[in-house]
Amino acid sequence: MRVLLAASECVPLVKTGGLADVIGALPAALAEVGVEARVLLPGYPAVMAALQSVEDLGPPPGADATLAPGARLLSAQAAGQAAGLDLLVLDAPSRFDRQGGLYENRGIDWPDNPERFAVFAQTAAGIARDGAGKWRPDVLHAHDWQTALAPVYLAAWGVDTPSALTIHNIAYQGRFDATLAPMLGLPPAGYGQGWEFHGHLGFLKGGLMAASAITTVSPGYAREILTPAFGLGLEGVLQARRAALHGILNGADTAIWDPATDTALPQPYNAQDMAGKAEAKKALQSALGLAPAEGPLLGVVSRLTGQKGIDLLLAALPGHLARGGQLALLGTGDADLENALKAAAQANPSRVGVRIGYDEGLAHLFFGGSDAIAVPSRFEPCGLTQLYALRYGNLPVVARTGGLGDTVIDANPAALAVGAATGIVHEPGSATALDHALQRLSELWGEPAAWRAVQLAGMEHPIGWGSSAWQYRRVYEGLLRP
Ligand code: ADP
Ligand code: GLC
Repeated sequence: MRVLLAASECVPLVKTGGLADVIGALPAALAEVGVEARVLLPGYPAVMAALQSVEDLGPPPGADATLAPGARLLSAQAAGQAAGLDLLVLDAPSRFDRQGGLYENRGIDWPDNPERFAVFAQTAAGIARDGAGKWRPDVLHAHDWQTALAPVYLAAWGVDTPSALTIHNIAYQGRFDATLAPMLGLPPAGYGQGWEFHGHLGFLKGGLMAASAITTVSPGYAREILTPAFGLGLEGVLQARRAALHGILNGADTAIWDPATDTALPQPYNAQDMAGKAEAKKALQSALGLAPAEGPLLGVVSRLTGQKGIDLLLAALPGHLARGGQLALLGTGDADLENALKAAAQANPSRVGVRIGYDEGLAHLFFGGSDAIAVPSRFEPCGLTQLYALRYGNLPVVARTGGLGDTVIDANPAALAVGAATGIVHEPGSATALDHALQRLSELWGEPAAWRAVQLAGMEHPIGWGSSAWQYRRVYEGLLRP
């Protein structure tokens, strides 16, 4: 079975968040279950620079040449660190060859995002219709709003290749001015039923209406997005399509995230020999100018947005520090949060270390060197840092929402008694609840045998793609044999 994964990010080439980790890992995970996947990416500079064995397949099928003059579809292998990825690339310099962010420049969205991702989605649909060279997918699998129009084009063109659309985060919907629709080649029939969303053009809305199957990245989030509080206006559409909606938990790429082989750590370690973890903690403390402390070192690696609950963490921080704990945070995002975090570090330089920026290598040291990892999100479709935390022997302290609740087993007395606990789970959206969770963390820290048991259970918890890859395969099969 052949599947085209159309996505706007892919590790290690281009990444702003977990979507990239997932797309980077899925092809190998799907190969294990007999699914041949190729990834279609936009030709950003970082992607173009990493290509080898490039074959020019000509003008991209399906793509409107006026939206991307001179565009070519390339078939290529990724080189270097990305070796092994079998890529298709939309080489469209007028849309993707530019310095700046993938979706924005200095905090302002690229004004031509509708054109950029419409022509990208057209290309995905075109490959599903005509193939790419000799390769033709059985299923088109789109991810998030950037590729959500692909199923809409398939339907508009009367192509019967089935499609799946994965929601990685329903907060990003790709909403634009409805007057753009004709230029983007969208059918007028969309008004009132397809891509139209409260008078706007909704990329994600259109995709959710048109895709043969819808998936999201955890069973918990699949339930939550059916409600107004989490569906963010799309709950009605999802309720109508409930029979086509599947929650499939993300995995982690255990080749990249493994303390036994991680070259970003001063010394590798594993569950039996944890000496390297102590070394990593010293290295992290020294990198951030932190002094040794009696309490646990709580790490955070996160985008700094309202979703992630960093404001709640700031509110709960004094209690954590008063109990002897430390905080190490790596993140970038909202200026207000960045400033508040910097101020917290300045007020307490030996106990609070903050690194503003994006640094993949340092993220690995954060997972190696922290004792616990906090993910106090208000909502979290899946979340990956709690999975990396488990693998690296950190206790995840997470809000009970979305995939966080599906991946961490709270250290309540029952779970502790049977050795099942892997972390601490608290009510979302509440600084008081987070404070209480961090208090429980300190209590556990004070009982080394109990801490060690939770740590070991976490390190043994399966975080790979195994069962989720099978679930995707079953979804694809269901589309091919309706
Ligand atoms: P989201 O996709 O919502 O940001 P996830 O937990 O799914 O959340 O994925 C975030 C990914 O981005 C993880 O791989 C995490 O390690 C990484 N990440 C987030 N912020 C940074 C940062 N400042 N530096 C390095 N990696 C980061
Ligand atoms: C989104 C979500 C995150 C999820 C990631 C990968 O960015 O915010 O929870 O882990 O996508 O699916």
